Amino acid sequence: MAKISLTGIKPTGTPHLGNYLGSIQPALELAKDYLSIYFIADYHALTTVKDRESMRKQSHQIAATWLALGLDPEKTVFFQQSLVPELFELCWILNCFCAKGLMNRAHAYKAMVDDNREVGRDLDEGINVGIFDYPVLMSADILLFGSDVVPVGADQKQHVEIARDLAESLNSALGNVFNVPQPLIRDNVKTIPGIDGRKMSKNYDNVIPIFDSPAAVRKRVMRIVTDSKTPEEPKDPETCNIFAIFRHFAPAERVETRRRQYQEGGLGYGEMKQELADSLEAFFAPARAKYDAWMQDTAAMDALLAKGAERARSLGSPRLEKIRKKIGVR
Ligand code: TRP
Repeated sequence: MAKISLTGIKPTGTPHLGNYLGSIQPALELAKDYLSIYFIADYHALTTVKDRESMRKQSHQIAATWLALGLDPEKTVFFQQSLVPELFELCWILNCFCAKGLMNRAHAYKAMVDDNREVGRDLDEGINVGIFDYPVLMSADILLFGSDVVPVGADQKQHVEIARDLAESLNSALGNVFNVPQPLIRDNVKTIPGIDGRKMSKNYDNVIPIFDSPAAVRKRVMRIVTDSKTPEEPKDPETCNIFAIFRHFAPAERVETRRRQYQEGGLGYGEMKQELADSLEAFFAPARAKYDAWMQDTAAMDALLAKGAERARSLGSPRLEKIRKKIGVR
């Protein structure tokens, strides 16, 4: 049987070029060799997203983004997490086997407590139980389907380790019920700078969204920070924020030509910014048409995600039923 690659995509923020290179492209690459199970983690987003409009819009944007960029919903089991109740039942079961101390040590939760401590607030302020339990729900996502590999960013590594710990402790308590998954950490991935030169991240408000209008994308590109060299001066392409993005989205030959011109001098940053904006427009044009079409027909997308959820349920149910029997509720 094909090995399983599983990942959840939290619908928060607008997908940007860093997401494309760092997670979307590698996950779509993996989908060629694995049975891929990729889902919109809306109930994870609920820990922070509390208004209906944002939840709907961001879920649709993320789903449309992945579909437009090449996710094949016939091959990949692509669904909306909240449509698979088995995940939440498994989450509860895992909760009852999970030491509270393990969750106290989870980085994301601990960081919030530490922030509160630092400014002298009540330690629990702003922290809901969903945030505390987040790693257990993520473990349920991973373990229900018997995942072999879990492609995630370095920030999610501890969560996959928690899933492994829980798999091992339930395996010894109940007899082998879970596969123990491997994290596939993307740390030497292509990280690209945002428009301010720091790593592109929604936390820094420095992103270039993939599917904003071409005019809006161009405007962001024009704001990329550079040094103050004149067009005539030779420049180092390796330290230039424009070039660091350009190299991923322009044809290889063009990248080499521009690299040479940087070193020779005579090429200005303004001109390079225009070319980067042109390259992005060309690179994403076919995907943009698909993205726009999906966003025009969110009902079709909802139907597709619901169909994926049925597949996910039939993949996950047998394992859950086995566990129900092991714990004595059936
Ligand atoms: N927590 C992940 C993130 O913020 C999203 C996620 C939810 C996930 N469930 C998952 C990732 C299961 C991998 C496996 O990016």
